Amino acid sequence: MEKIISTNFSDIMPANVEIKEFPDGDGYVRVPNAKSLAGKDVRVFHRLYPNQNTSLMQALFLGRALRGAKSVELVAPYIPYSRQDKLWLEGEVKSAEVVMEMLGFAGYSKVTTFDCHFLKKAGEFEYGGMKIRNITLSSLLIAHAKKRLGDDLEVISPDAGANYMSSGKGMKKVRGDYGKGNVVYRDIEKMEMDFDVAGKNVLIIDDMISTGSTMVRAIENLRKNGAGKIALAATHGFFLKDSLKKLGQLSDCIFTSNTIPTSAAEVDFMDAL
Ligand code: R5P
Repeated sequence: MEKIISTNFSDIMPANVEIKEFPDGDGYVRVPNAKSLAGKDVRVFHRLYPNQNTSLMQALFLGRALRGAKSVELVAPYIPYSRQDKLWLEGEVKSAEVVMEMLGFAGYSKVTTFDCHFLKKAGEFEYGGMKIRNITLSSLLIAHAKKRLGDDLEVISPDAGANYMSSGKGMKKVRGDYGKGNVVYRDIEKMEMDFDVAGKNVLIIDDMISTGSTMVRAIENLRKNGAGKIALAATHGFFLKDSLKKLGQLSDCIFTSNTIPTSAAEVDFMDAL
């Protein structure tokens, strides 16, 4: 399998393509050895986050530059728009589906990713006309949490969607209406829990930490119910605004994988590939 490494993967492997910007902000992509890849199976390593819209365009251009290849697989550690896979109000779009359709249009035949939000379990799937291999990092994250807090750890997900990461033990998150203003989000109305955590050390594991509000509510729940030490882990850490600092203060340990590189990235997703 031939490898094409994007510049936004260069923390992991040396890049072998050119990705630049024209003065007006348009993107520029070049695969210098494109001809030599004709008829071959190619794997493209390219992040689609941060700067999701720019990164998506780059992925489309990379796919098109490789049009002579036999097959082109995209390894995209995090899929942007993956939380927009359902229609809530009239006139909305399943953006996650559109993203997959666009990648197919650009020439990709397969996407490999990690703990993809809309798939909710590991395995091989088809979505938006694209074959997707979804790998879970739950074992690596749990093993890392045990190294930090010891083996005696209760593993819990903060909502049903991430239950597959905690072998089924999860809280129930109830979301309400859209919040007001220009930012799109639905408030968390409540989080329910019907198991005993008194005196136990707990790992809360989720596919992603974005604003951190899910983790804050989950921690409140656990503290109210007398939990011991609390570790927080997620595959993807966005840590918007000051959420990393805030969650660090509320918990005994917090870390993610490096699908999105941040100072909290302690687990290498490449170990699961
Ligand atoms: C939602 O269903 C996801 O699994 C995460 O729990 C959620 O997206 C995290 O977002 P936030 O950190 O903003 O609560």
